[in-house]
Amino acid sequence: MYTSKISGLGSYVPENVVTNDDLSKIMDTNDAWIQERTGIKERRHIKKGDGNSTSTMGVKAAKIALERAGLTTDEVDLIIFATLSPDMYFPGGGVRVQHMMNMNTIPALDIRNQCSGFIYALSVADQFIKTGMYKNVLVIGSENHSGGLDMTTRGRGVSVIFGDGAGAAVVTRSEKENVGILSTHLHSEGAHAKELSLEGPSTEHWVPEIIAENPQEDIPYYPYMNGQFVFKNAVVRFSEVINEGLQQNKLQAEDIDMLIPHQANLRISQFVQKQFKLNDDQVYNNIQKYGNTTAASIPIALTEAWENGKIKEGDLVVLAAFGSGFTWGSAIIRW
Ligand code: UT7
Repeated sequence: MYTSKISGLGSYVPENVVTNDDLSKIMDTNDAWIQERTGIKERRHIKKGDGNSTSTMGVKAAKIALERAGLTTDEVDLIIFATLSPDMYFPGGGVRVQHMMNMNTIPALDIRNQCSGFIYALSVADQFIKTGMYKNVLVIGSENHSGGLDMTTRGRGVSVIFGDGAGAAVVTRSEKENVGILSTHLHSEGAHAKELSLEGPSTEHWVPEIIAENPQEDIPYYPYMNGQFVFKNAVVRFSEVINEGLQQNKLQAEDIDMLIPHQANLRISQFVQKQFKLNDDQVYNNIQKYGNTTAASIPIALTEAWENGKIKEGDLVVLAAFGSGFTWGSAIIRW
């Protein structure tokens, strides 16, 4: 029986820093509101012409992860690309990465699970490795949110939260027992699909129809979020799915060395931290610098935590996410 472990991590964020004060110049918002409600101080936005897109950022993160794993592109067996903001409606980002990295005609799979996209992608990689089908899987989470946000006062409840960036992990076959990805836990509840969504343009809601149905000033091309409802569900599901993972592995909260929650809102992370009675060194947050980067948030945070020496061999690392769908999940990893 094979096990799977993360053998390399990488991340990339665009250089362009957008502070809360920058946003307050283009919409009715302010630094105090944003920091108090979300913990965010600044985020990165792609600047037109800087060469960044969802897939190019994914490539930059992937190259770092592969180098750290000591692998060449020829050794990758599968690409899994998680995003809610692909460069184009179809095809997805995975095939673009395959082309840009001059890879063999290996399979490329896109995952559409928004904030929990990276956990879903990691789980798929884990299954392919544990069955023996593949040896090295390149998992990427990348988002270009700034390309599709309503940057006016109308969109402030959503647009101040999200940022751009990418993270990547190489998942590799191991023959050591009880190390690497111990288990992953995935859930969904489609009854709440519309509570955090972007409905059109889509096949149910195509452009002429949207324009005909809506006054010009209220065209729903932008993401919608029922913030308080999402928040209430998030804190419950985060805790449930972390507990599920701990129980399956006969572990306790005090066994956690590092919890990396999806960076949705610093208040959510703090709530979860309190529930599990973890101290500040046991939870990694960087939403203050990058905002919510959806499928990229966990791999960016995981990469940073590892780069800063906060994750050591033998540590119990717990990843958890909740978001649009609703979908949520956790991964229990022995580093
Ligand atoms: O990653 C996927 C999962 N996403 C999440 O987990 C997000 C969960 N939700 C949240 O993080 C919070 O609900 C938000 C940060 C989105 C919003 O915080 P809130 O405390 O729930 O605020 P609210 O939406 O209830 O709005 C409170 C007030 C409203 O004004 P009134 O109606 O009280 O006069 C809003 O219009 O704040 C106003 N507001 C703003 N004011 C300044 C909303 N956005 C802004 C803004 N700046 N950017």
